[in-house]
Amino acid sequence: MRPPLQQATILLTGASAGIGWAMAHELATTARCLILVARRQERLEALKAELLKRNATLQVIVAPCDLTDTDAIDDLLTQLKAQAPQIDILINNAGFGDIGAFEFGDWDKLQRMIALNITGLTYLTHRLIKPMRERRSGGILNVSSGFGLSFMPGFAVYVGTKHYVTGFTECLRCEVAGFGVTVSQVCPGPVTTEFEAIAENPLEHSVPSFLEISAEHCARESLRGFAKGKALIVPGWRAKFLLWFSRLSPRPLTRFVLSLGSKTLYKPNLSDSSD
Ligand SMILES: NC(=O)c1ccc[n+]([C@@H]2O[C@H](COP(=O)([O-])OP(=O)(O)OC[C@H]3O[C@@H](n4cnc5c(N)ncnc54)[C@H](OP(=O)(O)O)[C@@H]3O)[C@@H](O)[C@H]2O)c1
Repeated sequence: MRPPLQQATILLTGASAGIGWAMAHELATTARCLILVARRQERLEALKAELLKRNATLQVIVAPCDLTDTDAIDDLLTQLKAQAPQIDILINNAGFGDIGAFEFGDWDKLQRMIALNITGLTYLTHRLIKPMRERRSGGILNVSSGFGLSFMPGFAVYVGTKHYVTGFTECLRCEVAGFGVTVSQVCPGPVTTEFEAIAENPLEHSVPSFLEISAEHCARESLRGFAKGKALIVPGWRAKFLLWFSRLSPRPLTRFVLSLGSKTLYKPNLSDSSD
């Protein structure tokens, strides 16, 4: 089954940067209406101007919202009722991570991550899926991560949130399979975006650049897979290979290898405290 992407009204979260920004560009030529959601309104206005240059007939709605707040999501959906009474497609892309040993993580940031990556995504889906099922037409694309299918010390809470997204999406896909609603997920490996800066990597090393793909590449492959109704999309051959390899490796071996490098997670904070 394929989602009704052509001439659709699409609500896209996390449109102000990275993968979401690139997805908006990809969708601009085929959608009827794009609803751009994120907190930074000025970025969304700039994106709107770019999209209208590509397609002057596109309806673009700038909808600033902090998706960690379910009351703000309620307000957003109420405001949208007049301009976009029917939402055909929901793309839950907004999300962020945090890098470092779990115990040193800032609790407020971890809580916001859970509120956005899990609660916001689930709440928006809960509000929008019923009308789709009743119309027997709709599509939901959740942006999970390669970490939704694997694990990595230094990303404990982020990995947890993405395992949630992956499990949630698989269940939901099965639940609505007979009702004309396509539920898919994309599990990207490393993508060059603002993600790492926001995750505040305290380590001396970051993701090797040869593993990264561009946000445009990620968006293109994600939407192509979604248009085909695929359950799980992994953009880029390197990420596909890494996931295939990690699934092949016995878990005890993976745990052993990953534990070996984990002491480095404590280095930045321990050297701070000994000053
Ligand atoms: N980059 C990677 O390597 C990678 C790999 C796998 C999966 N992913 C996933 O891909 C998705 C997009 O990430 P990205 O890499 O494109 O990161 P990004 O460049 O940092 O973009 C994140 C987007 O989320 C929005 N956002 C953050 N907090 C929000 C909030 N409270 N309410 C509403 N919107 C919020 C941001 O907009 P505002 O700041 O304007 O609100 C921004 O538009 C995320 O779910 C991420 O977990 C990324």
